[in-house]
Amino acid sequence: MSVEIVADRELIASRVQAIADDLNDRISDETPLVVGVLKGAMPFLADLTKAMAADLEVDMFGLTRFGEGGKVSLAIDVGTPLEDRHVVLVEDLVDTGLTLRSVWSMLEARSPASITVVTLLDRRARRLVEVPVDHAAFVVGDEFVIGYGLDWEGRYRNLQDLWGVLDLTEFAAAPPALEQV
Ligand code: IMP
Ligand code: MG
Repeated sequence: MSVEIVADRELIASRVQAIADDLNDRISDETPLVVGVLKGAMPFLADLTKAMAADLEVDMFGLTRFGEGGKVSLAIDVGTPLEDRHVVLVEDLVDTGLTLRSVWSMLEARSPASITVVTLLDRRARRLVEVPVDHAAFVVGDEFVIGYGLDWEGRYRNLQDLWGVLDLTEFAAAPPALEQV
């Protein structure tokens, strides 16, 4: 098969806990606002916030892509004012960094006290622009990744493990049923 598990749910859980521990050390006496990017970051954000000790708030926002170069606009805005808040931005995957750069600028324009960037996956070999990633659960290579929030054509977000697609052409020709077990 052209697809295999690259991180199973136990490994994901231990990495999520490690990042939560780091954040718990950094964030002691403030009420952080944890902000996730729809839709890919949802499972990661849910598990991460459950593992965080801080008294925190959660919000989400959604993006629409337009034009070239990873330009994005807000399709669903953050409901919470960001001014003077310590924001923890939760992403699914930072690839070229173009999306994160746009998102960062949009958030920064609202004058938060700080922005800490947390991503589930960091494909840093493909970075085109420098972006501040403070915590990454996993560094990945070129393979396309699905599961635990990440999709192919809108599917597979609900898989509990992370799967790497070895041959995307073969995969797309006959997308397999990767059931939850
Ligand atoms: P960037 O602007 O190139 O950094 O794009 C990052 C975005 O592309 C991520 O937030 C994902 O939504 C999407 N993406 C990139 N690689 C993958 C992948 O391997 N699987 C699923 N989505 C991906
Ligand atoms: Mg995304």
